[in-house]
Amino acid sequence: MQANKKMVVLGSINIDHVLQVPHFPKPGETLSGTHYLMSFGGKGANQAVAAGRSGASIAFMACVGDDEVGQLLREQLLKDNIDISTIEVAEGEATGVAMIYLDDQGENTIGIYPGANASLTTAYVEKHRQVITACDGLLLQLETPLESVLAAAKLAHQHDILTVLNPAPVQPLSDELLSLIDIITPNETEAEALTGISVQSDQDAEQAARCLHHKGIDTVMITLGNRGVWLSVNGQGQRIAGYDVTVKDTIAAGDTFNGAFLCRYLETADWQQAIDFAQAAAAIAVSRQGAQTSIPWRGEIIDFLK
Ligand code: RIB
Repeated sequence: MQANKKMVVLGSINIDHVLQVPHFPKPGETLSGTHYLMSFGGKGANQAVAAGRSGASIAFMACVGDDEVGQLLREQLLKDNIDISTIEVAEGEATGVAMIYLDDQGENTIGIYPGANASLTTAYVEKHRQVITACDGLLLQLETPLESVLAAAKLAHQHDILTVLNPAPVQPLSDELLSLIDIITPNETEAEALTGISVQSDQDAEQAARCLHHKGIDTVMITLGNRGVWLSVNGQGQRIAGYDVTVKDTIAAGDTFNGAFLCRYLETADWQQAIDFAQAAAAIAVSRQGAQTSIPWRGEIIDFLK
């Protein structure tokens, strides 16, 4: 393992309130939940934790509120092998919150209060620019202000740093931002939102990937749930099969995939190995409950692969 490759995740931190319900409540309906869990989450933090537990040398750029939970979150991130020196406390703000309903099929719906995540401004990116320019791989998502994501991507691009965008939660993205990305990792829904192509088959995935290549992205990885991943490198596409496991809870499965993938790709520069590793990590995560509570450590992933 090449321990010297450095990875940076820039993104959100949330405290997740997860309520298990028999079905998603309809407007005006009050439902009794069958299980409640409060866990550390946020797409950025989940991806950083997945990378840290996978064995990456990783720094996390993010903001927490000046509340007790912000302090607890930082302590936990440290235990997950993450350099937290660039995590800032947003004075007078609460740490981000996610209210999550989880149904009996393991699907979820999420409502977010950004809180301190909104303090991840372009000025913050500029202040910590050296962390980005000194790394080998930057992993971004879309739960922090878009202009800051763009600023970070520009900086990474100027310094030839491998930049991965997990376009979640999906939203309209400028051609400028997309042209700065080396690897994009949408799921089927996100791929459809970005390209207008409904991804139901390998042929659809190939077409959606082609559309994203036209935006200037060399590598497209569309995650297809238990059907695996459509990998398209400069227009050469193939589906890499996933693992069939019993799904308990899909929260943070995509985040686990992304953090574990970039960790392993920086170590091996091998698509197949990195995707296998990431799919194994995500398969373990869906068999457990919660966001960061479900993310496996490197040893567990290696055991699973055996
Ligand atoms: O991707 C899962 C995450 O999305 C949750 O942890 C929640 O915080 C939301 O950001």
